[in-house]
Amino acid sequence: MSTSVSIPSEVTSALPTGYAIRPIQKSDKQGVLDVLAVLTTVGDISNESWDDRFDYISKHDDTYTILCITDEAGKVCATGSLIVERKFIRNCGLVGHIEDIAVAKEQQGKKLGLRMIQALDSIAEASGCYKSILDCSESNQGFYEKCGFKLAGVEMAHYY
Ligand code: ACO
Repeated sequence: MSTSVSIPSEVTSALPTGYAIRPIQKSDKQGVLDVLAVLTTVGDISNESWDDRFDYISKHDDTYTILCITDEAGKVCATGSLIVERKFIRNCGLVGHIEDIAVAKEQQGKKLGLRMIQALDSIAEASGCYKSILDCSESNQGFYEKCGFKLAGVEMAHYY
């Protein structure tokens, strides 16, 4: 994954001592998947599947950014993704989609979720997105409001 993403120093310096935020690496498989399990079913991902998906995402790093936060021991304790959508409307505008935000259970409440959103939001803005959007449950609405998001529309889904 590209290491060239620019994370504002205000975000980095606001992390707890010894914590760091960076793009995920291929070697983060177990750490990232363990954290994502707080969000939803992850499945039994083989090393080959992880590597294939990681390589695809890395090759499309103008579209995908996946970050993680590590603790003082280097353990992954939070992750989050930004997908930049290229549109025709708004003069071929770009929209950021914030996805798969997850903080390990024992690390919640330390503002890691907030720092993750601030980092992804800033990357979206720097990429030229005119807005970023996300879907969440009602129980997380308050969190995203604290991150500066406003309720806009209704989420709908069609599962296959
Ligand atoms: N409802 C209301 N306020 C909240 C909530 C919530 N569910 N969660 C956190 N907050 C508040 C905090 O109290 C804090 O407020 P403060 O500034 O007044 O102290 C502020 O939001 C920032 O909280 P953080 O400490 O950054 O939150 P945390 O690191 O625990 O991350 C998160 C929040 C991501 C929701 C985490 O609890 C989590 O991983 N939950 C399980 C997975 C999940 O639901 N992820 C979101 C899916 S939606 C998506 O991915 C687009």
